[in-house]
Amino acid sequence: MPKSSPHVAVLTHEVLRLLSPNAGDSYLDVTAGYGGHAQAVLQSTKAPLKAVLIDRDRRAADYLKQKFAGSGAKVIKSDFLSASRQLARQGKTFNLILADLGVSSPHLDDARRGFSFEKPGPLDMRMDQNQVLTAAQIVNEWDGPELSAVIARYGEEPRAAHIAEAIIASRPVGDTRQLARIVAAVMPRRQKLHPATKTFQGLRIAVNAELVQLEESLPIWLGLLTPGGRMAVISFHSLEDRIVKHFFAQFGGNTYDAELTVLTPKPVTAKPDEIVHNPRARSAKLRACQRK
Ligand SMILES: C[S@@+](CC[C@H](N)C(=O)[O-])C[C@H]1O[C@@H](n2cnc3c(N)ncnc32)[C@H](O)[C@@H]1O
Repeated sequence: MPKSSPHVAVLTHEVLRLLSPNAGDSYLDVTAGYGGHAQAVLQSTKAPLKAVLIDRDRRAADYLKQKFAGSGAKVIKSDFLSASRQLARQGKTFNLILADLGVSSPHLDDARRGFSFEKPGPLDMRMDQNQVLTAAQIVNEWDGPELSAVIARYGEEPRAAHIAEAIIASRPVGDTRQLARIVAAVMPRRQKLHPATKTFQGLRIAVNAELVQLEESLPIWLGLLTPGGRMAVISFHSLEDRIVKHFFAQFGGNTYDAELTVLTPKPVTAKPDEIVHNPRARSAKLRACQRK
């Protein structure tokens, strides 16, 4: 295993401040990735035997197994919704839960994973390499209204219908570069973002069922927290952040039956010096709560 991690964890200082780990705390990391946050939290809890680290990506799960080998921390290679349901069925509870959503740097850096429109690669975009659905299937097989809905809903792309039409006219679309070119051709010039940014985001969210995973997991995570336990969620786009914000508003507040206290009235974001060193931190939004 390389000495330096292939992924730099974002907002680590703020995560530690909000989770406020104590020695002996149990810890559930549902997107453990390359273990940056987990390592920082475990330095405070000093209780790896009470830590469960989940990731659906094979490379990340293998890395975690090596990184925490012999510590007693349990690594589960699974999507977090299935793994969280299983932990709930087993009656497990945790003092601390962290979700650092989305993709890792290796997903974007490795052209073969097909996440990046800047690198030539297959239309894949699966976080879990064993999953059946790929971006290629959506791009080349789904009908116009379905394809357009994915790009509109998950990419928040106003020109989704035009893009879907152009994709269908160019089928079969072979790789990420070709897809990026097709999208760019129907987009107005001189935009701030690369013209394919939103389309790629929409496809990625659909391939990995990212919003469903988050929406259905949040209530399970709340149920997995011990009374007084804390949960932090880092999201990287507004669709995810909205889900977390609404969930916290629904179960928090000042009413007698509120199940959680919101610890972040506004989302915590990265300071400029962190963004300089780690551009991924630019869009990170951290929200945290404490179970009553
Ligand atoms: C931003 S990275 C997390 C990095 C990690 N906090 C660290 O310090 O290295 C997100 C990770 O979550 C994983 N992931 C995303 N959605 C997931 C899901 N629904 N279930 C399980 N893992 C997921 C990805 O494979 C990726 O490795």
